[in-house]
Amino acid sequence: MCGIVGILGNHEAAPILVDALKRLEYRGYDSAGIATVDAGKLGRRRAVGKLVNLSDLLVHNPIAGKAGIGHTRWATHGVPNIVNSHPHRAKDVAVVHNGIIENFKELRDELSQNGVVFETDTDTETVVQLCMSYLKDGLSPKYAAAATIDRLEGAYALCFLFEGEDDLLIAARKGSPLAIGHGDGEMFVGSDALALAPMTDKVTYLDEGDWAIVTRTSLEIRDASGTLANREMRTIKVDLGTSDKGGYKHYMMKEIAEQPTVLAEAITHYTDPKTGGISVPGLDIDFANVDKITMVACGTAYLACSVAKYWFEQVARIPCEVDVASEFRYREPPMSDKSVAMFVSQSGETADTLAALRYCSDKVSKTVAVVNVAESSISRESDISLPIHAGVEIGVASTKAFTCQLIALVALVISAARARGELDAKSEQVLRTELTSLPGIINQSLAQQSEIDEVTIELSKASDALFLGRGAMYPLALEGALKLKEISYIHAEGYASGELKHGPIALVDEHMPVIVLAPKDDLFDKTVSNMQEVMARGGKVLLVTDPKGAETARDGVWKTIIMPPVHNMLAPILYAIPAQLIAYYTAVRKGTDVDQPRNLAKSVTVE
Ligand code: M6R
Repeated sequence: MCGIVGILGNHEAAPILVDALKRLEYRGYDSAGIATVDAGKLGRRRAVGKLVNLSDLLVHNPIAGKAGIGHTRWATHGVPNIVNSHPHRAKDVAVVHNGIIENFKELRDELSQNGVVFETDTDTETVVQLCMSYLKDGLSPKYAAAATIDRLEGAYALCFLFEGEDDLLIAARKGSPLAIGHGDGEMFVGSDALALAPMTDKVTYLDEGDWAIVTRTSLEIRDASGTLANREMRTIKVDLGTSDKGGYKHYMMKEIAEQPTVLAEAITHYTDPKTGGISVPGLDIDFANVDKITMVACGTAYLACSVAKYWFEQVARIPCEVDVASEFRYREPPMSDKSVAMFVSQSGETADTLAALRYCSDKVSKTVAVVNVAESSISRESDISLPIHAGVEIGVASTKAFTCQLIALVALVISAARARGELDAKSEQVLRTELTSLPGIINQSLAQQSEIDEVTIELSKASDALFLGRGAMYPLALEGALKLKEISYIHAEGYASGELKHGPIALVDEHMPVIVLAPKDDLFDKTVSNMQEVMARGGKVLLVTDPKGAETARDGVWKTIIMPPVHNMLAPILYAIPAQLIAYYTAVRKGTDVDQPRNLAKSVTVE
């Protein structure tokens, strides 16, 4: 989703703004722009499409000034064209915005009645026009911005820049994250710490409803009531090395390949260095007295929760409900005060997941965040925050965050099962040993890349595909389908294998690839029967299994991909690798934009 940056610097702002916007590219965008103030004069440049278009424009039509704001836009109101691109400007004020102004129609009508002529289809233009109307009324920039912010409903991270003000930015946050960076005689504003990373590692996060008056030498933060607020400045560690492609063609492939390393880091985090046992640092939950677990998330994170539901119920014997965040709060589910609610999110900023957390926070015994971005809103607002140690994930299609989320969730399940007397020492020891070997096993599975690449010669010609799985492999079938559709644009569906003959089998013919994710577990024979039903109807089966599964069931299948053997509980983590690779190589063959697929944003900060 939209990315914001603001600079009050000591050097020309334009190249620094564009560079910072590059680090926000991963969020997804369809146009970009910057505005600067040079000797009091406000100017701006905007371009549709990739940032390279903005950079080209700036070469031919440069813009000076050491103060500026920049924006990558993911269109919500109005098509992605120059006019709708940010920064928006009304004479003396320019604004960049991430979020949705829900009362924009009402404000627009009011301003139009007062003679204001709107140029764009966006909700954001109401912010600049409103601010300009306050400036015309004689308010100073600071008070005009404050009066504007006061009128806004909805979600926003905003940064204002004013004609005649070389040393002033006004930043505001409600619903969308915003960080203020502290430099040496310089100040910055950014959607996240990654945007600001080369400029500073000293960051103050605005709280909900905060707005800030920023100059090169001062920062004044006020809360929603206008009272001066004291927000902590933190030193943030962002490893910039992780934000390049490291020699890979795409971030996604780099992130797939990183999994043995990051999984090992996650496993180390959840291993007690003294005993070698699985432990969850800071886990202050009496699982013996928990009556239910509710897990809420979106997209791939939701599918990680769906895998964990099987584990919580089968291993720890706790009833577990999983919900997509965009539906959860509108159902108004009754919550037990003996229950625990968990929120899984790579970014920690997904608007619906954050809203679900807020819905639960005073209704359950504990809220738990499982996040990749430690400083995110979901992390900060939860009672307990568990890191996943995936490192920066840039590819829009989530890969390493999914498998690392599953590691944190395995550790939680083991801790809960132990506390409830559901896991004997021997089984726990077996699981612990298997977990320790997992990064090595994942590494072996990555050696299957050329076999998988080869099957995608056919897959990339398909217009539809089915993924099948049973038990905890069912959510993985959904994840395989999600990955394939989001980056290759092939229509794909995931089904529980047993559900096939209740409808979707009608789709099966010789053109329909059916990808079956089936390690040789207790449910394998049943899955094989479903696979036979597909083959009997001419369906083309790609079986992903282990050596024993291949020995039993490879006859008649189109292709078999053989995974190394793994403990049943950990199979959804291992089988994520072929699911990711199938999607990746198919997309590469189709020539789609793998890292930034059309219409998608990495971090969905609006409802
Ligand atoms: O940052 P989050 O984990 O909360 O994001 C949730 C989804 O938007 C995300 O998983 C999305 O589905 C990915 N594009 C899937 O690859």
